[in-house]
Amino acid sequence: MIGATIDAAKLAALVEDGMAAVERAMIQATDSDVDVLREASLHILGAGGKRIRPRLLLLTYLALGGRDVDYVANPAAAIELMHTASVVHDDINDHGILRRGRPSVNAIWGRTFALLTGDFLFTAVYELMAPYQDLNVDLAKAATGLVEGETLQASAVKSNTFTREAYMQIIARKTAALFRAASTIGAKLAGSHPDDIRVLSEFGYNLGIAFQIVDDILDLVSDQNKMGKTTGVDIFQGRGVAVALNDANGNGRAQAKDPLDDIRRKLMEGDTIELAREQASLLIDSSIASLAILDDSPAKLELISLARQIIERDS
Ligand code: IPE
Ligand code: IPE
Ligand code: MG
Ligand code: MG
Repeated sequence: MIGATIDAAKLAALVEDGMAAVERAMIQATDSDVDVLREASLHILGAGGKRIRPRLLLLTYLALGGRDVDYVANPAAAIELMHTASVVHDDINDHGILRRGRPSVNAIWGRTFALLTGDFLFTAVYELMAPYQDLNVDLAKAATGLVEGETLQASAVKSNTFTREAYMQIIARKTAALFRAASTIGAKLAGSHPDDIRVLSEFGYNLGIAFQIVDDILDLVSDQNKMGKTTGVDIFQGRGVAVALNDANGNGRAQAKDPLDDIRRKLMEGDTIELAREQASLLIDSSIASLAILDDSPAKLELISLARQIIERDS
């Protein structure tokens, strides 16, 4: 449903309604009479999180003239569920014990139930997406990318080949693919012209790359209470942006036996973090510039602000 420009107050109300509908859809889709699945899902979903991916979908839709937020709530919920499934599984692989300010699912229920809860969250996506035909393909591609990215990462760590190139390949798939699906699906649901869909897809993709780079920087410099998740693990696991940049600089991989504070201090004395932040910042700037094709509107301004939050966030 395409509508005329709306004012900022009306936009805020639509976004609030849309995000509330996303929350309802996720809770409904993960209801089960199997106690562990229902309780563990509620535990991780109820912990909140930034909800940046469904917000990106919704704002893209609104910036392109869509107005029926109830219609887009289910695909937005599906994307957030897929993301949530991925972090539940990620905490098993990364030995994360804190997620979204709460003990992780694996910390409470153990690895087996965390694996199954992640599977359950993934499978809830099918029903939510059933009426959306071709959009399933966009989401399926992101799901494949996510698994491929995580696998490439584990392989690069194993073979000690976590280079800058490998890093870019990995984050493009494990993180940017889902951001791209969010903006692509938002644009398609608004009935946009193919040229606009292409620009918004690229916008989401670049946001995803920048988002993961910033997340990896925060893994290094922020503390876990602020982040609400287990941090400081990337270096020990031989991955992340600092490992990639240092590898390319010929400094090699940090030795796991080094005390973490020592490694962190060395990295912060050098220009690794600044280089990474600069790259993320450039990506955000060019992504914002690409939105020049859109008519000015409060929704476009919100989309720009979402992009800025990615580089400005400290948690
Ligand atoms: C965490 O994503 C996983 C990454 C891609 C870095 P978010 O930082 O969006 O996690 P939540 O949803 O806010 O917890
Ligand atoms: C991001 O990887 C997780 C996924 C994209 C599945 P990380 O391992 O860097 O994420 P955090 O830091 O644990 O959230
Ligand atoms: Mg992790
Ligand atoms: Mg991380």
